[in-house]
Amino acid sequence: SRAIILDTDPGIDDAIAIALALSSKKLDIQLFTTVMGNVSLEKVTQNLLKLLAFFEKNIPVAKGAALPLLKDVIDASDIHGNSGMDGYEFPEEASHLLSKNHAVIEMHNQLMKNTGKTTIVAIGPLTNLALLLRMYPESVKQIDEIVLMGGSVSRGNKGVLSEFNIAVDPEAAKIVFESGLPIAMVGLDVGLKALVYPEDSEKIKAMNKTGDMMYHLFKKYRGGSFKTGLKMYDSCAVAYLLAPEMFDIETTFVGVEINGTYTSGATVVDLKGYLGQQPNAKVCVDIDENVFKKWFMESIERCI
Ligand code: BDR
Ligand code: CA
Repeated sequence: SRAIILDTDPGIDDAIAIALALSSKKLDIQLFTTVMGNVSLEKVTQNLLKLLAFFEKNIPVAKGAALPLLKDVIDASDIHGNSGMDGYEFPEEASHLLSKNHAVIEMHNQLMKNTGKTTIVAIGPLTNLALLLRMYPESVKQIDEIVLMGGSVSRGNKGVLSEFNIAVDPEAAKIVFESGLPIAMVGLDVGLKALVYPEDSEKIKAMNKTGDMMYHLFKKYRGGSFKTGLKMYDSCAVAYLLAPEMFDIETTFVGVEINGTYTSGATVVDLKGYLGQQPNAKVCVDIDENVFKKWFMESIERCI
């Protein structure tokens, strides 16, 4: 199975993605790291420790960046609720899993400890990863690929052209995209089509304990207006690892706008090659919605 470090800001859709990743035998999640994003660092870390208690998984957790590199912090508590994971009574957080070390140090230790290369899956702002690349440039050779949920080929969900995870910390995203590492960008364009509808949610509830938990989170996601589809953005990053054939993928140059007058945090995905730059990412430009749905439902069925 593939060695994984999962960097996250739970976050309702993060929680769903984590459940799917934990249930797969093909992924060996060795370390979780947290980053501010959907809500504060303290809250997202608590949420992650609650999820690990729920799933009874003994995987270490390290707390990372509480603030973006340069920008002021913005959150998404309007979407994920005050706690960041509203809607379900989770067990007491598994506090014993929390490391005393900063996420960047634990990431580095884990990367150097592994004999083979490790994949980093990032489903929050990219602050921890940028810090890792700056603090421990030698760890780069231990990274096999960065699979990130973030960015957009078309329009944004936080700015006109910027997706939330990139908009929170555009400078960090720029460092990551310019790192020269293999990057898979699983962005808004596919997340917007990875939908859960109320009728799916009823089926999910009946599946198992995890399904019941998800059902209750879905009810609170996006302020509780559950009539149209809910977007499973972060699950798409897990889908990319486990079932990449559901995506249309283009290898291309992605630039990150940090100082645009109106476009800070935009990902400039140069599909036509106007900028004459070397490709630096594999970009998921489209997804087969039906294949996603089937994969998503089957993955939940495998959960506890
Ligand atoms: C991303 O922003 C967050 O709110 C979600 O968890 C996801 O990672 C979508 O833009
Ligand atoms: Ca997230």
